[in-house]
Amino acid sequence: MSNYKTMTTAEIRENFLAFFESKGCKVYPSSSLVPSDPSLLLANAGMNQFKEYYQGIKTMKEIGATSCQKCLRTNDIDNIGDNRHLSFFEMLGNFSFGGYTKRDACTWAMEFISSPEHLGLPLDRLYFTVFTDDDEAAEIWHSLGVAEDHISRLGEEDNFWAAGPTGPCGPCSEIYFDQGPEFSGEKPGDDGDRYLEFWNLVFTQYDRQEDGSMPELPHRNIDTGMGLERIAAIMQHAGSNYEGDIMTSLIELGEKLSGKHYQAGNEEVDRSLRILADHSRAVSFMIGDGILPGNEGRSYILRRLLRRAVYHGRLVGIQKTFMAEYADEVVRLLGDAYPELVEKRALIEGILTAEEERFGTTLEAGESKLEDELKKLTGDERLSGDVAFLLHDTYGFPIDLTREIAARAGHVVNEAQFE
Ligand code: SER
Repeated sequence: MSNYKTMTTAEIRENFLAFFESKGCKVYPSSSLVPSDPSLLLANAGMNQFKEYYQGIKTMKEIGATSCQKCLRTNDIDNIGDNRHLSFFEMLGNFSFGGYTKRDACTWAMEFISSPEHLGLPLDRLYFTVFTDDDEAAEIWHSLGVAEDHISRLGEEDNFWAAGPTGPCGPCSEIYFDQGPEFSGEKPGDDGDRYLEFWNLVFTQYDRQEDGSMPELPHRNIDTGMGLERIAAIMQHAGSNYEGDIMTSLIELGEKLSGKHYQAGNEEVDRSLRILADHSRAVSFMIGDGILPGNEGRSYILRRLLRRAVYHGRLVGIQKTFMAEYADEVVRLLGDAYPELVEKRALIEGILTAEEERFGTTLEAGESKLEDELKKLTGDERLSGDVAFLLHDTYGFPIDLTREIAARAGHVVNEAQFE
């Protein structure tokens, strides 16, 4: 298989924004993780801050926009810590609100990916998926030199994108990188690691309404998103999201704090070190954007991530208060790209330490209570919702933490009863 060059996260970020600026797009800073759109709890995509441009309520004089957006998705919190999932991530994107076409978007994407001044990835390792009946996208990729057997069609679940239940949405086309036959996986879109999706080009043309109807937007739009951690791992010839430069530095901090080694044969330790790297970065950015730990909405998401990080810290043997050290490293790694982290450093560290100390006082007692209860269970008996509620109410254990600890002992929680 063809080889290719190496780039750091910072180089990719800069190169991407400069490339789309050279095409006439205006560079926008990331918007806050707290969206202005009330239909969203947290920013989950680069297009969020441009919703009103899609809807034709606002217009810009440039042909479109480009940004590197802070995003947070916790719908699959239980998966975080595997090789792929992150809660917080950076998303590179370029956007058009009628200013340039689908063909332009694909042509520029191809130029960015394959040209040696940019990513310089070899075509034989790239695969493209298009929405079921999107012949136009298939034809465009083909005309740009993509072989027929590198283009496939996927249905609504993979190749139709929407930020939420209502709002701008449309069919999309995804670009995959072939990591090689040593990885599992048969084809783009399956669960294996061989074919990694790294760029999603959405052809946003509908505005889904509360009643499910999908009128056409005033113009045909573009919304692309490339996961920066994912492309950084690819450009650094690393196998996973957690092996790019930024996440590696955070994992190394975990090794230093715990005295444990990553990828030294203990899968549980590896998972905890990944969760610590992911969650500590997420909570630092959340506090940097003004979110405080609490019991509802985004505040509760912050609290859950933070408490889960503290738990995994104890699990890998970190005895002291440690979250502020992670925040410090996050600021060192990402403060140049996100100056708000530098400005809010003292606040971030103060809130993290206060919440960590608060939870630290009940964590041990809660854990031993939970362990006693788990020991009483036999076979596949469920942990009662009453116990889960006591842990929640008295010991500050978010339900996902109780669920996780119970699962380690081979039991599920009676969550209906807990509710
Ligand atoms: N909004 C799309 C996504 O998040 C493309 O940017 O995948």
